[in-house]
Amino acid sequence: MKIKAEFHKVFGREADIVATAPGRVNLIGEHIDYSDGFVLPFAIKYETTVAIGRNGLNIFRFSSAQRPEEVIELNALTPLQGETWGRYVAGVIWALGISEGLDIYVDGQVPVGAGLSSSAALECSTAVGLNQLFGLGKSLKDLARITQKAENEFVGVPCGIMDQSVSLMGHQGSALLLDCRDLSTRDIPFDIASHGLELLIIDTQVHHELVDGGYAERRASCEKAVADLGITSLRDISVADYEARKSELDPTTYIRGYHAVTEMKRVLDTVDALQAGNLARVGELLNESHRSLSEDYTVSCPELDLAVEVANLNGALGARMVGGGFGGSAIALARVEDIAAIQSAIVVRMSDAGFPMPRFFTSLPSDGARVIG
Ligand code: GLA
Repeated sequence: MKIKAEFHKVFGREADIVATAPGRVNLIGEHIDYSDGFVLPFAIKYETTVAIGRNGLNIFRFSSAQRPEEVIELNALTPLQGETWGRYVAGVIWALGISEGLDIYVDGQVPVGAGLSSSAALECSTAVGLNQLFGLGKSLKDLARITQKAENEFVGVPCGIMDQSVSLMGHQGSALLLDCRDLSTRDIPFDIASHGLELLIIDTQVHHELVDGGYAERRASCEKAVADLGITSLRDISVADYEARKSELDPTTYIRGYHAVTEMKRVLDTVDALQAGNLARVGELLNESHRSLSEDYTVSCPELDLAVEVANLNGALGARMVGGGFGGSAIALARVEDIAAIQSAIVVRMSDAGFPMPRFFTSLPSDGARVIG
């Protein structure tokens, strides 16, 4: 196995275990995982693989195929040590409570900075490998909570539970209906190929400064809506009841909470439409989700809005931004024969607008994390 040979080259010893975990796209259900919502992501074919070995020393050493020139060496696991990718790995070791010295070699094939959860792939491959190596017996749900804790408390990013859950629990051929309240799941078959369709992933290659602060601020607004309405979560109020109580909230809190309650309904409507084989309806729901994220929740940006608009003008059934927003990727559901035209139209319009050149990917739903060697 190539990664074992690379591990040996860097650390001069044998790896004990090799594990892999995918990135994700989210079909629908954006910015509601932290409000106990249902979300519908799927694992993609791009994966991060880690080789792990005990080193018998009191240090942690990390190396990666993508940055061959550096070996990160840590004597202790202390939160928030600089802007390195090693924080994600160290955070997982910390959150699992492991203190034995380790060598870890990473080969990350999930595009970085594209909003496709390369960080969750790194966390989850590490977690699954360590769980097996140390015989910890943690369930996938446990590992989802542990990797989220690593990212929240060690890395310092206030993310929800969606990315880690789907990287761990996704299955080939299906989107994962995840209840973010108790992490129960249902596989929803997503066989768009049999409808002659493909899901195009459009990476705008932009990353606006708002990303971190903007995310935390939206999260805080949802928590404020819950507190002001005296409810347990935005999951527990219908769209009609929420609308009826508009006067109890300030305008910004109201409209942000409105995104959340309507998005929760759109996820369940999407599941119904998929089960009925009504892909045109799925497309409409994607468009409604994008409008809500862009206008109500205000987490989109001109580059994402343009990608979505041009995809729709060129025959997509629907399109929307995915992930945290303020950059990253959009998805477009389109007929296979329209994909090339959509891509070229997006390239032309993005370039006319002076935006960076987008990158394109596509993926069917793939399997979640597993030990492979
Ligand atoms: C990021 C976070 C997730 C989720 C999405 C928005 O990807 O990591 O937890 O909140 O944004 O849906």
